[in-house]
Amino acid sequence: MRAPGKKPAKKRGRKIAAPTIAVRLISRVALRAEADGSIAACFDGYSEPLGKFSTAAADRAQSFGSGLPLSSFADRSAVAKEVDLLARRLARRGLLEYRLVSAEDGKDQVVIEPQVPDYWPRLPKLDNSECVVLSRFAYLRRRGNEMVLESPRADALFRIGDPQIAATLATLSTPQKISRLRRQQGFPGIELLALLLDCQILFKLDDAGDGLRAREGDENLVMSDFHDLLFHTRSTEGRHSNPLGGLYPHAGAIAPPPAVRPHWPGKKIDLREFSDAAEATISPFAKLLGERHSTRDFDDQLPITLAELSRFLDLTARVQSKWQSKPEFDNSGPDIEFTTRPYPSAGSAYELELYLAVANCEGLARGFYHYDAGEHVLVPIDGRTHELDAQLTAAEFAMGASAAPQILITIAARFGRISWKYSSIAYSLILKDVGVLLQTFYLMATDMGLGGCAIGTTNIDLFARMTGQEFHAEGPVGQFALGRGKQPGDQNG
Ligand SMILES: Cc1cc2nc3c(=O)[nH]c(=O)nc-3n(C[C@H](O)[C@H](O)[C@H](O)COP(=O)(O)O)c2cc1C
Repeated sequence: MRAPGKKPAKKRGRKIAAPTIAVRLISRVALRAEADGSIAACFDGYSEPLGKFSTAAADRAQSFGSGLPLSSFADRSAVAKEVDLLARRLARRGLLEYRLVSAEDGKDQVVIEPQVPDYWPRLPKLDNSECVVLSRFAYLRRRGNEMVLESPRADALFRIGDPQIAATLATLSTPQKISRLRRQQGFPGIELLALLLDCQILFKLDDAGDGLRAREGDENLVMSDFHDLLFHTRSTEGRHSNPLGGLYPHAGAIAPPPAVRPHWPGKKIDLREFSDAAEATISPFAKLLGERHSTRDFDDQLPITLAELSRFLDLTARVQSKWQSKPEFDNSGPDIEFTTRPYPSAGSAYELELYLAVANCEGLARGFYHYDAGEHVLVPIDGRTHELDAQLTAAEFAMGASAAPQILITIAARFGRISWKYSSIAYSLILKDVGVLLQTFYLMATDMGLGGCAIGTTNIDLFARMTGQEFHAEGPVGQFALGRGKQPGDQNG
């Protein structure tokens, strides 16, 4: 029996020590320090110079192999500043990852893999009274024999080493108060929640009400379907670190699929006699189709002129007329504005915008411009020269060309213009519209005696920096190099 007036001791949950966050080199990278103080990162047979450092900094840098505590970067000593500089250089090159180490057994609870070059772990403040929930864009999947947590919005992905963390994530599909999460068995620590919040895998709510989709971000994000945003970020450059482009990943294991599909077993109906007869009366359009080809090298002694560019844009992309209509099946709905342009577009949405990186055009200064299709004017967009150069160089590289194109047209989509109407198929419609516009460009370039080439890759992060727009609001979905092609045998340039 207890003594009267004495309260029983409150049973508290076992206090779990906070995990350590450590900054370490990714597994295939080693640092090599030379006698003169220069340090290089060595990987895959390459050596990447990182600059010169003091002996003390080089000694401390050896710990990057197992991991340097993130907290040590807050130290402002001269050596710590040098190590910080080295870490930032390694991070920019995608050579670092970040471990969340359990204080109990020293194992990796989570390893964070940056997806953008300037990712650095940040721990925004989270109070016990605050409420968090998973982003609807976040997902867990198997990669090899690991479980990874990703989101197209996130600057990093999280390799989950402890199944208990996956269980905690599952509870976050409904809004949870931090104080409640803290009491849960196997609570992974406030640090992980803060890191997930920083990566927009979690977001904060003011209260526990409904309507999560509307509360996650701006209107453009609200209109985005999960798979559309994921496809956009994973099939372009800039917001992931996966292998990308013509790398022949299956060449060693699977025979190349045939260029022409093996025929079906049915009885053949021969069409050749009809086409042979029609060839005598070939139309100008059929001739144009026959002449169309990709041009990757341009005559920089005789560049495209502003007058030619104006005509090219006028005849391919300019708004010809405007009209209004109600949504089908809803006469009381809002009036929707439409335009007519030279190429077809899904639902007449005309969500595609043209941005021009101009390297060499007679009568037009080098720079970055938006084509206003309604007014038929070019509007310069102020920007950093090195970003314009980076865009042009990437196009040159993608074409395997000897110089940058005279003009690089980036086709960007105003995603909301099409996802406001279409569910599930919005991004696929956008890509189909891009194909239509690319062929329109090819044919007009051929008709005008110019040359062009479609480009299959584009950097959405670079474009976001050049335009200051959110990647989910308006972003590049295609590119086309344009200019005056070199004549065969022309050695100029
Ligand atoms: C969607 C698309 C993407 C392309 N991407 C590239 C590219 O990144 N680099 C390149 O040099 N050519 C690119 N091309 C051009 C093709 O290589 C070219 O169309 C193909 O080889 C057929 O040659 P032709 O256009 O001269 O008839 C692309 C074409 C299309 C339609």
